[in-house]
Amino acid sequence: MMLLGHLLLLFGSFSFALGAFVGINIGTDLSTLPSPEQVVAILRSHRITHVRLFDADNHLLSALSDTEIEVMVSVTNEEVLRIGQSPSAAAFWINKNVAAFVPATNITAIAVGSEVLSTIPNAAPVLVPAMKNLHKALVAASLNYPVKVSTPMSMDIIPKPFPPSTATFNSSWNSTVSEILNFLRTTNSFFMLNAYPYYGYVQTNGIFPIEYALFQPLTPVKQIVDPNTLFHYDSMFDAMVDATYNSISAYNNLVIPIVVTETGWPGAGGANERDATVENAETFNNNLIKRVLNNSGPPSQPTVPINTYIYELFNEDNKPDPPSEKSYGVYFSNGSSVYTFSMDTLGDNMAKNASGGFCVARKGANKSSLQDGLNWACGPGQANCSAVQPGQPCYMPDTVENHASYAYNDYYQRMRSVGGTCDFSGTAVTTMVDPSYGSCIFTGSTNSSIGGMVTPSLGPEGPPGNISPGQVPDIWYLFLGAVVLLLV
Ligand SMILES: *[C@@H]1O[C@H](CO)[C@@H](O)[C@H](O)[C@H]1NC(C)=O
Ligand SMILES: *[C@@H]1O[C@H](CO)[C@@H](O)[C@H](O)[C@H]1NC(C)=O
Ligand SMILES: *[C@@H]1O[C@H](CO)[C@@H](O)[C@H](O)[C@H]1NC(C)=O
Ligand SMILES: *[C@@H]1O[C@H](CO)[C@@H](O)[C@H](O)[C@H]1NC(C)=O
Ligand SMILES: *[C@@H]1O[C@H](CO)[C@@H](O)[C@H](O)[C@H]1NC(C)=O
Ligand SMILES: *[C@@H]1O[C@H](CO)[C@@H](O)[C@H](O)[C@H]1NC(C)=O
Ligand SMILES: *[C@@H]1O[C@H](CO)[C@@H](O)[C@H](O)[C@H]1NC(C)=O
Ligand SMILES: *[C@@H]1O[C@H](CO)[C@@H](O)[C@H](O)[C@H]1NC(C)=O
Ligand SMILES: *[C@@H]1O[C@H](CO)[C@@H](O)[C@H](O)[C@H]1NC(C)=O
Repeated sequence: MMLLGHLLLLFGSFSFALGAFVGINIGTDLSTLPSPEQVVAILRSHRITHVRLFDADNHLLSALSDTEIEVMVSVTNEEVLRIGQSPSAAAFWINKNVAAFVPATNITAIAVGSEVLSTIPNAAPVLVPAMKNLHKALVAASLNYPVKVSTPMSMDIIPKPFPPSTATFNSSWNSTVSEILNFLRTTNSFFMLNAYPYYGYVQTNGIFPIEYALFQPLTPVKQIVDPNTLFHYDSMFDAMVDATYNSISAYNNLVIPIVVTETGWPGAGGANERDATVENAETFNNNLIKRVLNNSGPPSQPTVPINTYIYELFNEDNKPDPPSEKSYGVYFSNGSSVYTFSMDTLGDNMAKNASGGFCVARKGANKSSLQDGLNWACGPGQANCSAVQPGQPCYMPDTVENHASYAYNDYYQRMRSVGGTCDFSGTAVTTMVDPSYGSCIFTGSTNSSIGGMVTPSLGPEGPPGNISPGQVPDIWYLFLGAVVLLLV
């Protein structure tokens, strides 16, 4: 039994490492924020599988239900103090923002605060207590296994990140960092890192070639090599992650998997931000996706993939200056991408040959509302409902849910491109899983003659939801003395 327990534990901690993912941060500081349902439609149409919220907006969490999108929620910096001081505040937070939504909404992590040590150092003493209180509340709700607790750290707490082999956390934070790492280790959680090569590049004034920051090939005379390990660094992103692995390993040789909770490149900037261009943002984000999805880790941890959340979904025009702060978004609020950009290349199973999603009856939806939706779809909606007639392939099981699913989906596949939505008074949800079974082939299935459209059609903009400040990336100071440009 003991052995089995250990094996399960090992498997548990390593299952994390199978197949890297790229997710996206959803900041909401926009003047025209789409409704939660529209945000989710945009995520689905671009086949985004993982998101991080900067808070725990209950409307968005509810819209994310039954979507298979994995969700990281956040405790805001304003909430950390109260939760760190009060186990009951932590329990209340977990009940309201996590327990109330799982499993329909797949919440898998809680980010406690944002760059607390570098932005609000006075709150450092309550950070670990807050993490512990939240974890205890998860244990009480039997949610500690599926939901991990951690805290995003800025590269600012690693004063000299290059060369990675000699990087260490700022020793002022020695005891707090030690407590955090122990917590992450004992709870089988992961280290959350915000790493912006944009700042690493800009702040070093041309010491590093821009190709290094943008994951572009380096000429033989510009290879970046760590003089101690002789590891070659193809990208600053890899070097930042390795600097963090090395800083962690100074604590009893710990290896705690790193997830990059934020990285990105601004598509526009002010007069003194000339590298903040659409071209560079396009290059960075597309190359980042390729880099992460190749599944390899950084040179010091080659087998641990670098799961990463891009910063961010939309430009947040309400953010304060500098202008680059408002320009990290990869999609406009109407869902079209700011530049050629695709997360469809995700190695995830759901991206495969799907037509862009199916529309089915929501589990547990009110039967009489479903019947109304079914009648509407097959009537005014002009769905082809012949397959759910007696004797036809989709008649059995003869339930209103099943028939509504078929009709809703047929309507959705035909009408999506001209504005048809998957809603039906809230009784419908989209799914990436092909609902076809046996000889009942749903419209839009790869086996069906009728293909689907991918572009979401959004109605008028909804009212802005809860606005919460997103993350402000911090400036990364790089000490130049250790840079090695090997001249071959
Ligand atoms: C939630 O995500 C986890 C991690 O990928 C996965 O194992 C689990 O099956 C998902 N749960 C649901 C209900 O989709
Ligand atoms: C380390 O952190 C302390 C406290 O925030 C700060 O005063 C100091 O400048 C930092 N050291 C370096 C080298 O960044
Ligand atoms: C933490 O600080 C103590 C005392 O300043 C030092 O001896 C120790 O090596 C530090 N630990 C790490 C991992 O830096
Ligand atoms: C994956 O990316 C790393 C870092 O750029 C690179 O060293 C490695 O060769 C790549 N692996 C494959 C299989 O492309
Ligand atoms: C979406 O919005 C952007 C920016 O406002 C605009 O340039 C683009 O044409 C819009 N796309 C569609 C399909 O409406
Ligand atoms: C999707 O299916 C078509 C036709 O069966 C095939 O040509 C194409 O390669 C498939 N695409 C992917 C991404 O599997
Ligand atoms: C379903 O909706 C109808 C009409 O909105 C309502 O009268 C009925 O009480 C609801 N049934 C259930 C079980 O909620
Ligand atoms: C309706 O669907 C059936 C198959 O379920 C098909 O045979 C028929 O041609 C379709 N009718 C129209 C008008 O598309
Ligand atoms: C689609 O067709 C293939 C080959 O005929 C079959 O193996 C597969 O199960 C079908 N898929 C569905 C969803 O019916």
